[in-house]
Amino acid sequence: MNKQTETVLNYHNRTKHRLDRYAKGPESIDWEDQPDQFRRFSGCEIVTLPTPGAELEPLFADLDNPETIPAKPLTLANAGLLLELAFGLSAWKQFGPSRWALRCNPSSGNLHPTEAYLVSTGNDFIKSGVYHYVSHDHSLEQRCRFAGNLPGSGLLIGLSSVHWREAWKYGERAYRYCQHDTGHALGALRYAAAALGWTVELLAEWSDEDIAKLLGLDRTDDFKPLEHEFPDFICRINTHPIFDKITDREYSHPLPQGEGFQKCTNSDHLPHYNSKLLDIMSRLEQAQSGIWSGKADSLHAYHLYKWPIIDEVAIAASKPRTEEPEWHAVRQHTIKSSGTKTATAIIRQRRSAQQFDGKMSSLPQTDFFRMLAAVLPATAAFELWRWPPKVHLFMFVHRVEGLAPGLYALPRHNSALEQLQAATLADFDWQKVSEAIPLYHLSSGECKQIAKTVSCHQPIASDSAFTLGMVAEFSETIETAPWLYRRLFWECGLIGQVLYLEAEAAGIRGTGIGCYFDDSVHELLGFKDDKFQSLYHFTVGKPLEDKRLETLPAYGHLKDIAQ
Ligand SMILES: Cc1cc2nc3c(=O)[nH]c(=O)nc-3n(C[C@H](O)[C@H](O)[C@H](O)COP(=O)(O)O)c2cc1C
Repeated sequence: MNKQTETVLNYHNRTKHRLDRYAKGPESIDWEDQPDQFRRFSGCEIVTLPTPGAELEPLFADLDNPETIPAKPLTLANAGLLLELAFGLSAWKQFGPSRWALRCNPSSGNLHPTEAYLVSTGNDFIKSGVYHYVSHDHSLEQRCRFAGNLPGSGLLIGLSSVHWREAWKYGERAYRYCQHDTGHALGALRYAAAALGWTVELLAEWSDEDIAKLLGLDRTDDFKPLEHEFPDFICRINTHPIFDKITDREYSHPLPQGEGFQKCTNSDHLPHYNSKLLDIMSRLEQAQSGIWSGKADSLHAYHLYKWPIIDEVAIAASKPRTEEPEWHAVRQHTIKSSGTKTATAIIRQRRSAQQFDGKMSSLPQTDFFRMLAAVLPATAAFELWRWPPKVHLFMFVHRVEGLAPGLYALPRHNSALEQLQAATLADFDWQKVSEAIPLYHLSSGECKQIAKTVSCHQPIASDSAFTLGMVAEFSETIETAPWLYRRLFWECGLIGQVLYLEAEAAGIRGTGIGCYFDDSVHELLGFKDDKFQSLYHFTVGKPLEDKRLETLPAYGHLKDIAQ
């Protein structure tokens, strides 16, 4: 095992919450001292984006077949709408003198470590360069002005994380949450793009160093110490479906990993690694010869506690340039969404439930099956995910029509079934309960209390209709490459984002659960080693609204400023 893998594994084990002790975090929190959620760079030219809040026609259900959605033209208003629906504000909440913003993308503890950048080249609606998105103001700060253009036009979105924002509250475990948030943000971007008739293409070949150079994250002097940003990923926004042009796909035979996957081995339309490298080089050249401006403002918090292990794991899990395969799941018909609202309405109304109605009547089985079908890899939401799935679901079912309360499993890939069966308790019965989705019954019995206990005693895990753990194919993945640790969490975050939106579409609500007792969950399922690890939990049910909280419009404050 190499040193980086060892560091990652050590980090993972050390940041497990246990029944008798939580992972290391601050002993006290000064709530007045919370890091600023909104980063700004002083000294940049500002591009004000057109008024947020525009509606789009497509229904949420239409996003199952995004190729049927007419693509909106690439304009400043539509690029702004993409950013708003992915990372913008969705509401303000007020309780007494406290007021806080919510966003279309969720975040552990609402701390929002994720920063978003737009990189434009050759578009006539904005000067070519690198821009930082300020969700509070719905504006762009121009960090870099490119001297020249590349052939054609292009729009990239890059994400980065300020780990310290999250560590301020959660200490050492925070790095995991930042990765979940990145996965959620990727999901949020996918839904926003699909509503506009656009697609998101992950440029997975890029190294972290490349991303840092392009986005200016390596410009150390532009950031306060400890408040720097770590690169996450770069993706291309295609204003046409990327796969509809492919006429000459040549595929290898279905993989040993199981049916339903195809590897594109050759196509004029899927450029090879060398041309991808050329693209990286020319984009970096643009950034390096460009004119940079602005310095990040302080996040205004006192760095009382320091968590050096976060920088250590971030370095050990940093990604080199890689040649990535072109895997795509073959789209399969899913169970139809019963939702009738528009995609923009669902995206903007997404919230985390803080309490559930523990006496709710059962969740209709069709809604439950639909939610699970939506997280299978052969759906439109996972088309951007270029790798066979490594994350599978184990569910505590409390209240679902026609299903006995108990434990269930949803392997997201057939090939994982046998390995999961072998790794879990011998008395699980693994009876398939649906023809439409690979859902298996494991054992019957009330599991509200145990779900609550292993979820750091949170009632949201027991008062819901169901709670689930996302179990990743862990040790083999990390041993292949330590940076894949982050990708596992991103996959979990992406699944979580699908569940959040699906729950809203079904008229109920979800909540991500980052706080759970890792090894208690493993013990419950029978895992004896780290071949599989549970990396994220999620719960869905009928929410109870906190009537004490006032809800204010997302961008009302912009009108106040304008007047
Ligand atoms: C990775 C992640 C972990 C979370 N963990 C918990 C949790 O353990 N308990 C909880 O009540 N909420 C949890 N949440 C919900 C957040 O607190 C919530 O997203 C945040 O307050 C913003 O609110 P919103 O989702 O309504 O926009 C989590 C969210 C994410 C994305």
